Amino acid sequence: MTLSGTLAGKTALITGASSGIGQSIAQRFLAEGMNVVLFGRNKQNLQQVAQEHDGRACIVVGDVTAAADRQRLVQSAVDQFGHIDVFVPAAGVLTFAGVEQVTEQVLLHHLNTNFISIVELTNLVVPHIPRGGSVVFISTSITSGGFPGLAAYSASKGALEAYMRTAAVELAAKDIIVNAVAPGPTKTPIWTQALPPEILQQVAATIGPRLLTREFGDPEAVADAVMALAFNPSIRGQRIVTDAGYGIN
Ligand SMILES: NC(=O)c1ccc[n+]([C@@H]2O[C@H](COP(=O)([O-])OP(=O)(O)OC[C@H]3O[C@@H](n4cnc5c(N)ncnc54)[C@H](OP(=O)(O)O)[C@@H]3O)[C@@H](O)[C@H]2O)c1
Repeated sequence: MTLSGTLAGKTALITGASSGIGQSIAQRFLAEGMNVVLFGRNKQNLQQVAQEHDGRACIVVGDVTAAADRQRLVQSAVDQFGHIDVFVPAAGVLTFAGVEQVTEQVLLHHLNTNFISIVELTNLVVPHIPRGGSVVFISTSITSGGFPGLAAYSASKGALEAYMRTAAVELAAKDIIVNAVAPGPTKTPIWTQALPPEILQQVAATIGPRLLTREFGDPEAVADAVMALAFNPSIRGQRIVTDAGYGIN
């Protein structure tokens, strides 16, 4: 279902738009007729998403952990479109490390990208979100359970969810809607980058039976959930899980 027409002229800023879930969200918003500012490090991938949307898609190449890049991103969005109706910080990293291997370096890697840079970017974006606008964070379904090897990753997303609830309460004063989508295992490069093929096969074989669909989800399902949250003022401070039943099975 598309809402084309009703959303034309609205502007979204999406980080992680060069791959996987962020890319899918960007494509969905563009299909709805929105203006989209796409951010990531891989210029070629960003250009592929933006092509055929001249004038409505603006790409900004940069590293979300770099303060200067974050400032340039928000300034570019405002220069191009004037304001930001929907902010979706989807950029994230995931590496496997057992509980006894979670070093300060591993923790900082996850916290810097998955939490601190998002908080810093939110500080810069919020002044440019008009009343009725929204923020949709991308968490993970595993913050409510335990997943071997992902303690640092899960902790970084847990921090993000706690932050999201307070942001939802405070930013209501500016009539800004704040929520999070918590995807379960989803078919994106994050898995193939984190694990060698033979280990990934074993992990997928463990996860598969708990998914009521029996397979990893499509990033488009996450984009659908983001779309549902971005424009609904009755849903506030929620964590919407798209995990095909993994958490209940
Ligand atoms: N796939 C899943 O099963 C799953 C489940 C739950 C939650 N998530 C979350 O969904 C989000 C998207 O992940 P994905 O699965 O779509 O993975 P992905 O395909 O690997 O995409 C990750 C994205 O994050 C960007 N990124 C990472 N570090 C960055 C940095 N320092 N600066 C700028 N951009 C950076 C990447 O950009 P470049 O490639 O351009 O560097 C890429 O666009 C993440 O927050 C992840 O935690 C994924």
